[in-house]
Amino acid sequence: MVFTESVLLKLFSAFIAAVLLVIYFFKKRFNYWKNLGVEYIEPTIPFGNSKDNFLQKSSLGDWYADFYRKMKARKLKYAGTYFFYIPTFVTLDLDLVKQIMQVDFAHFTDHGAYVNEKDDPLSAHVFSLGGQRWRNLRVKLTPTFTSGKMKLMYPIIIKISEELVKTLKAECGKGPIEAKDFSGRFTTDVIGNCAFGIECNSLRDPNTEFRIKGKRIFNLTISELLLNFASFLFPKTMNFFGARLFPKEATDFFWNVIKDTTEYREKSGVRRNDAMQLLLDMMSKDGKGDENTLTYNEMAAQAFVFFIAGFETSSTLMSFALLELAQNQDVQDRLREEINEVLRENKDELTYEVIWEMNYLRMVINETLRKYPALPVLTRECTKDYRVPNTDIIIRKGHPVFIPVKDSPRKIRANGILLVLFLSARDPGGK
Ligand code: HEM
Ligand SMILES: *[C@@H]1O[C@H](CO)[C@@H](O)[C@H](O)[C@H]1NC(C)=O
Ligand SMILES: *[C@@H]1O[C@H](CO)[C@@H](O)[C@H](O)[C@H]1NC(C)=O
Repeated sequence: MVFTESVLLKLFSAFIAAVLLVIYFFKKRFNYWKNLGVEYIEPTIPFGNSKDNFLQKSSLGDWYADFYRKMKARKLKYAGTYFFYIPTFVTLDLDLVKQIMQVDFAHFTDHGAYVNEKDDPLSAHVFSLGGQRWRNLRVKLTPTFTSGKMKLMYPIIIKISEELVKTLKAECGKGPIEAKDFSGRFTTDVIGNCAFGIECNSLRDPNTEFRIKGKRIFNLTISELLLNFASFLFPKTMNFFGARLFPKEATDFFWNVIKDTTEYREKSGVRRNDAMQLLLDMMSKDGKGDENTLTYNEMAAQAFVFFIAGFETSSTLMSFALLELAQNQDVQDRLREEINEVLRENKDELTYEVIWEMNYLRMVINETLRKYPALPVLTRECTKDYRVPNTDIIIRKGHPVFIPVKDSPRKIRANGILLVLFLSARDPGGK
């Protein structure tokens, strides 16, 4: 068929009309903060303020640290950004953060994360769920994190620390050690053991399946990252198409690990002092759950989130602490002195209580967490319209709130992308 001039003309006009319509939508949307009288940085079509994040030029943490600096310098208490086309309220003031996270928490109960329970039951964990389901789970899980329970797991950590020293001694002679990866092997073994009761042995062998699959979760391909962006921009659509946040090969592996562990413990009657046991004890006998117990899927999703929330965060902390200690010899010397002294006073026994006597160690950890927060931006989703105290500004239900934690952008980046994985701001509609 030959296109006549008039068919071509019609196609061309339709195309132009569609482009104009999209531009109109963005232009209108990008008036949101201006109309409310909230300060913002000029967005671009179609990324809003997220172009550098999307193009992987800047991590979310660095971008928001920079934004925080700029806006804070203007003595603002809050400001607005456009996460793509979604108006995002950004806090710049500690009192306001406290107000949102504590005092008026009832308006901000959700993280705004993507969940696809049907295709990926492991995604329905306490971090990603919102509202009443989050609350129910959280109430059931809180007793898992008492110091008493931590103490029970402590011998596991000590045992793996001994393995760490042994491995370090063996690998030291062979050349430089990559601190991030080495720390990751340690925390994989610790959390794998504490959460699943499994000897992962990734210190001994860096290529165990547990370690490989754990690493894979935080190392997504470009197409997986694009899918993730889409999941939080269009959660309903992506849910319909069965999209998942983490690679299926990795989630399948953990699904099977949890299934095998559950069956093993039920059949053998073996009990261990670990988080898996606490979760299994919370599960109802038939795995169907009620208001006091967990279903099988809920139990599995929580075991999974303990692992993914636990191993990468702690190894990030460890490797940055090592970096700072290497760069600040005086701090390193003082810390070594404290550790040696406290150990001497306690017959060289490293117990749970002894660790708490190491005050300078805690200062080092606190400062490292301050300088290199593993989650550089905390997120909340507004779940009930909220008037910002002493203003006329209303944060609308469905809009995200970003709380920058990192105070300045740094060249070294820790998991800026992590947040992107968790975040799923909902389209607030045309308000
Ligand atoms: C240095 C280590 C860690 C750091 C820096 C860290 C940091 C964080 C942060 C910043 C949040 C979000 C808080 C918020 O949005 O208000 C969070 C939530 C969470 N973390 Fe960690 N974390 C660490 C270790 C762990 C470990 C070892 C576990 C589990 C065994 C864990 C399990 C969780 C869970 C389940 C949540 C979600 C809680 C909820 O939404 O109710 N984290 N963590
Ligand atoms: C991430 O995966 C790519 C292959 O897709 C690999 O080349 C790279 O070394 C991995 N990075 C880490 C930190 O494991
Ligand atoms: C470290 O931070 C925690 C939490 O903010 C605080 O309770 C503790 O006192 C700090 N420790 C030291 C030694 O600064």
